Amino acid sequence: MSPRPRLLIVYHTQSGNTERLAEAVQAGAQAVAEVEVVLQRAFATGVADLAACQGLLLGTPENFGTMSGAVKDLFDRTYYPLEGKMEGVPFAIFVSAGNDGTGAVREIRRIANGYRWKEVAEPVIARREVTEADLARCRELGEGFASGLALGIF
Ligand SMILES: Cc1cc2nc3c(=O)[nH]c(=O)nc-3n(C[C@H](O)[C@H](O)[C@H](O)COP(=O)(O)O)c2cc1C
Repeated sequence: MSPRPRLLIVYHTQSGNTERLAEAVQAGAQAVAEVEVVLQRAFATGVADLAACQGLLLGTPENFGTMSGAVKDLFDRTYYPLEGKMEGVPFAIFVSAGNDGTGAVREIRRIANGYRWKEVAEPVIARREVTEADLARCRELGEGFASGLALGIF
């Protein structure tokens, strides 16, 4: 029996909003038994974690019009060691923002392009307080992403 594909959910949070989104993404993904779901903070994530995943969900607050420093730090630490080694890995983005969120999505996409990851779902951007509707969109993102991974359609 082949091992289950691993879906890594990496996020940073300062005041807890992105964490709530990440936990909803995790809950959705865990509905798909054929996928192993790992949730961890960006500062606790390194080269080996990224190299071991078959799918990646990235969560960040938008700070100063871009991703949080912690998520940028993850990219800074792992880009060269992983260059050319993660081509085609499917990914998607979720963002907690005060009123925008598009800058974080744009900048993550730019960097993800360097890793040659493949974006397979529309980003979820939650603005202002996290609502039940935002959490539902995140669960849907997690479940849809995990299903695609399980079916091997990405
Ligand atoms: C230093 C700082 C900069 C921020 N810059 C932006 C911004 O550029 N655009 C935006 O929409 N929200 C901005 N916000 C609001 C956060 O994105 C928002 O409060 C988010 O929900 C925080 O997520 P967290 O609770 O996971 O840390 C900023 C917040 C902080 C603390």
